[in-house]
Amino acid sequence: MRLAIVQTRPEFGSTRANLQSAIELMESERADLYVLPELFNTGYNFIDTAEVESVAERTDGPTFQAIARFAKDRACYVAYGFAEKTNRLFNSAALVGPDGLIGLYRKIHLFDRETLLFEQGDLGFPVFDLPFGRVGMMICFDWIYPESARSLALQGAQLVLHPSNLVLPYCPDAMVTRCLESRVFSATANRVGTENRGGVNLRFIGTSEVVSPRGEIMVRLEREEPAVGVVEVDLAEARSKRINQYNDLLAGRRPDQYTS
Ligand code: ACM
Repeated sequence: MRLAIVQTRPEFGSTRANLQSAIELMESERADLYVLPELFNTGYNFIDTAEVESVAERTDGPTFQAIARFAKDRACYVAYGFAEKTNRLFNSAALVGPDGLIGLYRKIHLFDRETLLFEQGDLGFPVFDLPFGRVGMMICFDWIYPESARSLALQGAQLVLHPSNLVLPYCPDAMVTRCLESRVFSATANRVGTENRGGVNLRFIGTSEVVSPRGEIMVRLEREEPAVGVVEVDLAEARSKRINQYNDLLAGRRPDQYTS
């Protein structure tokens, strides 16, 4: 299947324009599954919860409607990050297919000032079966906890969809280890650009990438520009966790010897 990472440059608060430019980027490359960044439609650097509240959407909001139309028209799947409004605010990711919403993930490990703006995720790390294999979602800073990708792998996820707004430089290389240690694919879609608001200046690092279960970087985008990276992947490759005759990475775990 054709897997696409979509690296965008959202403008803070310009929700409609950001949605439109993301759709145009997706239209530029045919794929079966697209991954968009974290908070791709709103921007990231909120000053307070009132700002989040003003742009947050319900799971069936206008952003979902537009993405669902795209997925239906193109018979494809899209994972995207957005500010989710219930009676609370979450930093969430939705997975949408030709028939509508497939799944939702709410970011569990909030980064920096996100802890002031969003509630901690409360849905665990769910996995979803797509025609080409089992996938799960985590968002950006979740990468720094190996438990995130491992939780997905233990439930049989073959591909980790990873909408991101990375500002630290470590994640792109670290994902090689995340993939090697659980023998999964990952698709990290990050954004580019800067946001200087309320005295907080953030520069997003681009470098979106797809990594294979053997730790190969199948595609890695530049640091500065919006772009789409497409690779052909066979998720069956992530099914076996065996690395030699004696070592099966998941079966070889020793949870009775670990401290949780
Ligand atoms: C991040 O979690 N957005 C760095």
